[in-house]
Amino acid sequence: MSITYLSQEKRFLLETNHSSYIMELAHHDFLSHVYWGKKITNYHGSNKILYRDRGFCPNIEPSDRTFSLDTLPQEYPQYGNGDYRPCAYQVKNEQNETFSDIRYVSHEIYQGKQPLQQLPSSYADEKDVETLIIHMQDKTLGLSIDLYYHVFPTCDVITRYAKFHTTQPLTLTKMLSASVDFRRDDFDLVTMYGAHNNDRNLDRRPLTSATTVVESMRGASSPHQTPFLCLCNHNADEQQGEVYTMQFVYSGNFHGSVHVDPYRNVRMQIGLQPFDCEWHLSPNEIFETPEVVMTYTDQGFNQMSKQLHTFVKQHIVRGIWKDKQRPILFNSWESLYFDIREDKLLEIADTAADLGIELFVLDDGWFKGRNDDNSSLGDWVCDTKKLPHGIAWLSEQIHQRGMQFGIWVEPEMISEDSDLYRTHPEYALQIKDREHVIGRGQLVLDLTSSNVRDYVVESICNVLRSAKIEYVKWDMNRHLTNIGSLFLETKHQRETAHRYMLGVYDIMQRITQQFPDILFESCSSGGGRFDLGMLCYMPQTWTSDNTDAICRTKIQYATSYMMPAITMGSHVSVCPNHQTGRITPMSTRFAVAMSGRLGYELDLTKIHEDEIPLVKQQIALYKQYRPLVQHGTMYRLKNPFTGNEGAWCFVNDKNVLAIYIKTLSEPAAPFRILRLQGLEEDALYQLNHGDVYSGSELMYAGISIPNTKEDFHSEVWYFTKL
Ligand code: DGJ
Repeated sequence: MSITYLSQEKRFLLETNHSSYIMELAHHDFLSHVYWGKKITNYHGSNKILYRDRGFCPNIEPSDRTFSLDTLPQEYPQYGNGDYRPCAYQVKNEQNETFSDIRYVSHEIYQGKQPLQQLPSSYADEKDVETLIIHMQDKTLGLSIDLYYHVFPTCDVITRYAKFHTTQPLTLTKMLSASVDFRRDDFDLVTMYGAHNNDRNLDRRPLTSATTVVESMRGASSPHQTPFLCLCNHNADEQQGEVYTMQFVYSGNFHGSVHVDPYRNVRMQIGLQPFDCEWHLSPNEIFETPEVVMTYTDQGFNQMSKQLHTFVKQHIVRGIWKDKQRPILFNSWESLYFDIREDKLLEIADTAADLGIELFVLDDGWFKGRNDDNSSLGDWVCDTKKLPHGIAWLSEQIHQRGMQFGIWVEPEMISEDSDLYRTHPEYALQIKDREHVIGRGQLVLDLTSSNVRDYVVESICNVLRSAKIEYVKWDMNRHLTNIGSLFLETKHQRETAHRYMLGVYDIMQRITQQFPDILFESCSSGGGRFDLGMLCYMPQTWTSDNTDAICRTKIQYATSYMMPAITMGSHVSVCPNHQTGRITPMSTRFAVAMSGRLGYELDLTKIHEDEIPLVKQQIALYKQYRPLVQHGTMYRLKNPFTGNEGAWCFVNDKNVLAIYIKTLSEPAAPFRILRLQGLEEDALYQLNHGDVYSGSELMYAGISIPNTKEDFHSEVWYFTKL
């Protein structure tokens, strides 16, 4: 039993294998938050909430000046009755009143978990998860809010969301998914920021007495901020310290915040972006907020990632690819861009097959009139000028060479220069009488409309049926503007951004369901939508459009905070690199690319003949160590954001693979040691069929890193456990 209700104490105890989460009904049936942290046995109320009369803090009961919502640690705080900190939700009734007051009514506890109705969500066998629903109500408003808690004991994860229903028409103007109040503020906040080609940089700072907001208003989770919040002790590092995280299972606009109040308490929240968003809720309808994944550990960031990676692998990613090894692919983008030519593709395919590549992916540029990025999106038919024999024939040729075949699509978009737009200009997201604002020469389809969604599903499924296709790269290359819909009534216009996301999930669900064997990879100009929402439909993501190995060292390092290596597309590309102009040794490009789902994105026919044996050897090596990288446990060892080096290792019960990347060669460079993690102290590990070391030696004494006079140098060590 991981969820218990103690009726005498009016206390909810949620327990994972190593953490406890405790709530209590406070005075007047308000739901208070009592504890989240390391597991407690036989909790008896030692840290009970203390009450005190504090100036300017309004009281629910005039006779009790010590009880105020402004100071009560709460689970799902409201607006209007005295709490001036950021609320978790806000509603408006028909009289335009925004006061709300929800109190505990009842609760349910059951084994198992239901999926959300229109949103992606985590899943588990009934025995692996337990659910608590706390029914809260504002009787005057007719508003009911059900707070859902799902406990996954073995992953040390709790997930949360809220469900709204009403007996009177209401407008929801803020509807976050999770809020937690800590009675302490001795934390650092870790978040990730970035941009196109510079996805996910780690940002860590001590909390200050203000609200720090991490959010997106772009219509996508975006590369700019990541829907991930992490609070940790000031001295937390990869191996020790308390860490608390919240991660949003959603791919659109989000809002995360950490607020420090005047009494040095912290409120951590995440959910849908309330800016430019409202939802009209009628009686008999429900509104579900997206799910939030929360984890706690007192053993630092590596343990945090271990918990999150296990959760992603077991309870987010689904379908036949969940546990399967992912193929090594060639992708045509950086070699041909829009210049797709049948003869050139086949020439590359010959080399790809010879090198040992398993999957050949035709990226952008294959469909009617698509010679640059200003046209043709929406017209999903083959350009026979470029591919005279068609896609089916090309796929056959690829299969004859012993590889699988994959294709690129961007289903959510429409170009003004397309047959689709000429016939259906109303299919684009738009505001009447306003000029379109263009992004990458294209518009966004109005997926709030079921007609538009049907068109997309049918046209994409036609492509996927037209040939033997085993892989699809699903791209999304611009953010939303002109956020309005010709298909929605006036009062629903401000629902457009969220309805768009519901539409995206609807078409993804329908398409992936029709082709359960296809391996889907999501992409948004790289990692612009690398979030848990997408991973519920597509088991891997193109991590970044930046393929420079040195930049990738940071991008993949930060991404690994939340996402396992198996989800990260990672390619060897040409030098000078197309994004940075950097020249990096092939060994380093491979060392970084092999730390995820390996691929190649360069004109393979131009690899120098001296390098061919090396590339063949690298591909063979990846095949040998693929189960370790894709299904083993990753430990970060050296942080490239704080120094000149990055390093990590992968460990399973048979092998260990350690990877070290140096950025610049230094004069008078120090001798460095790399200490591994995650090994068994007493087990023996053989290095590249040579010397044998104990786990304790490799973890505590470490390995001497050769001191080389070379920029962008890397080292890779392979160990076999004896
Ligand atoms: C952006 C992607 O991230 C690239 O890999 C490539 O697929 C282009 N789009 C194609 O337009």
